[in-house]
Amino acid sequence: MCGIVGYLGNRQATDVLVDGLSKLEYRGYDSAGVAVNNGKDELEIRKYQGRLAVLAEDLEKNPIQGHLGIGHTRWATHGVPSDVNSHPHFNKEKTIAVVHNGIIENYLELREELQAEGYEFISQTDTEVAAHMISKYYNGDLLDAVYKATARFRGAYALGVICTENDKELVAVRKDSPLIVGLGEGENFIASDIPAVLKYTRKVYYLENGEYVHIVGDKVEVLNENREVVEKKVNEINWDVEAASKAGYDHFMIKEIYEQPEATRNTLERRLDANGEIKLDDINITKEQLDKINKIYIVACGTAYNAGLVGKHAVERFLKVPVVTDIASEFRYSDPFVDENTLVILASQSGETADTLSVLREAKAKGATVLSIANVVGSSIARESDYTLYTWAGPEIAVASTKAYTTQIVAFIMIALDFGLKKGTITKEEYMNYIAELKEIPDQVAEVLKCEDQIKEISKQLVDKNDIFYLGRGLDYSTAMEGALKIKEISYTHAEAFAAGELKHGTIALIEEGVPVIVLATQQRLFEKMLSNMQEVKARGANVISITEVTNKEVEKSSDSVIYIPEVDNILAGILSVIPLQLLAYYVAKERGCDIDKPRNLAKSVTVE
Ligand code: F6R
Repeated sequence: MCGIVGYLGNRQATDVLVDGLSKLEYRGYDSAGVAVNNGKDELEIRKYQGRLAVLAEDLEKNPIQGHLGIGHTRWATHGVPSDVNSHPHFNKEKTIAVVHNGIIENYLELREELQAEGYEFISQTDTEVAAHMISKYYNGDLLDAVYKATARFRGAYALGVICTENDKELVAVRKDSPLIVGLGEGENFIASDIPAVLKYTRKVYYLENGEYVHIVGDKVEVLNENREVVEKKVNEINWDVEAASKAGYDHFMIKEIYEQPEATRNTLERRLDANGEIKLDDINITKEQLDKINKIYIVACGTAYNAGLVGKHAVERFLKVPVVTDIASEFRYSDPFVDENTLVILASQSGETADTLSVLREAKAKGATVLSIANVVGSSIARESDYTLYTWAGPEIAVASTKAYTTQIVAFIMIALDFGLKKGTITKEEYMNYIAELKEIPDQVAEVLKCEDQIKEISKQLVDKNDIFYLGRGLDYSTAMEGALKIKEISYTHAEAFAAGELKHGTIALIEEGVPVIVLATQQRLFEKMLSNMQEVKARGANVISITEVTNKEVEKSSDSVIYIPEVDNILAGILSVIPLQLLAYYVAKERGCDIDKPRNLAKSVTVE
């Protein structure tokens, strides 16, 4: 996730661009840059690793004059955060510059093609391919060049493009990455999100996939893939900037919950090649190394630990090696059996969690291979691990983790499938069939999100409760733990997850009239056992709220409310069944008037032990 802006009008472009980028920093903040047409032979480009303030300070000391420009705030995907990898990217002559949000999936093959034709690359990014490809097709007509170049791209992109030849022309295009056009008086804007333009105008066009924007002078034209002009509706924005940075959502948490279809899709597709196979080529663990590995530990904290509990199911199933999932702060002091035949898999959204980082250093010192799953490119855990698989969830702003959790599960499954195939513990057919199911997940997440209204109603029953219990068996127990953590941390309601079979060994004593019990029953093998557990708590007066697959209608007899998810493989069910639990935590916290994005006593990144 990155943020892009573009401006053409009478103001100094950099003033507008920097101001716009400041409203988009939530989309990424590891580097920022601008390119401006200042009437000279080369575009003037400034770009720096670090917060936007670094760029802003430079521009203040050394301003650029010009009324046409593009800007970018980066969340690194291809290539670590650095000055050279920052956007805008440009052709050799610096006559064309591009800002990009998204991922050009076939960039490696395009890069090779361009290199063979003599184009020189200076960064590790996919975007530089766009700059050279547009330059290759440019023949005095920028729009035509953008059409021709984008016809070659696979993947997601919102692009803003300018050139030296015309200081009154800005071209943009959108495919699977957000882009809007801001319509001012004698000036126009493009941006990834509305807050970037709200200071200047409240009139916007929302672009659809495959739409191109051609701004020439003060005229804006939107065209479709066939180069036909599209009549766009002008939308009047009546939100304030603060609300708009959350894209109209009340909180970052709910926005991030709704980003999960896109986040899971990015995590998966970024690692699929043209044959639809998982491509972990930078994780060079050979079959021989895998054969030697006799112990696998998955270690993490909080929500990432809960994702690791699901990850254990995937790794054991596909790799057929016993896995222990542990909490980092416990693992570290437990004198674990770690040696050179051990694989330690760490999961961390921030990549900076001190407990997890200590485990990493200790495991490496003992000779283990360390593979991390991280969301922040270039973070300490990512840098120090032997191998890193990034989740492409984009910045997670809300303290309560949501999209990092579901994308971590996708990452665990991809690792397990890839290693399983390499080691020969799964067949190619099983592998391909499973990938096909995994590819359905983003749409299925979107489907499950439709339960929001039902969850809002259920949350009203829970708002005054002192205790909430979450039950599950097997993988559902892991999801129950994540559901309980979520509601505890943001609504301050006491909640506990229990392995449903353990109820009769003590916990059932807590169940009395009206106690809410959230029951997860998605694991087919354990379904009948879960039905019995449901009946046990129902018979003692519990308010039973079940989450199960759409085919399991029997639960209705012993439940007060049922939330259905699509029928999927047992492990994939963990990605879908957590969605209602995230929504429930959110709406209970909202009903209780809690500070949802910044719960008391918590920090987003815990860098102390
Ligand atoms: C809960 C939450 C925390 C984090 C934990 C680990 O919603 O966000 O439990 O999961 O602090 O953080 P990372 O993943 O950054 O290592």
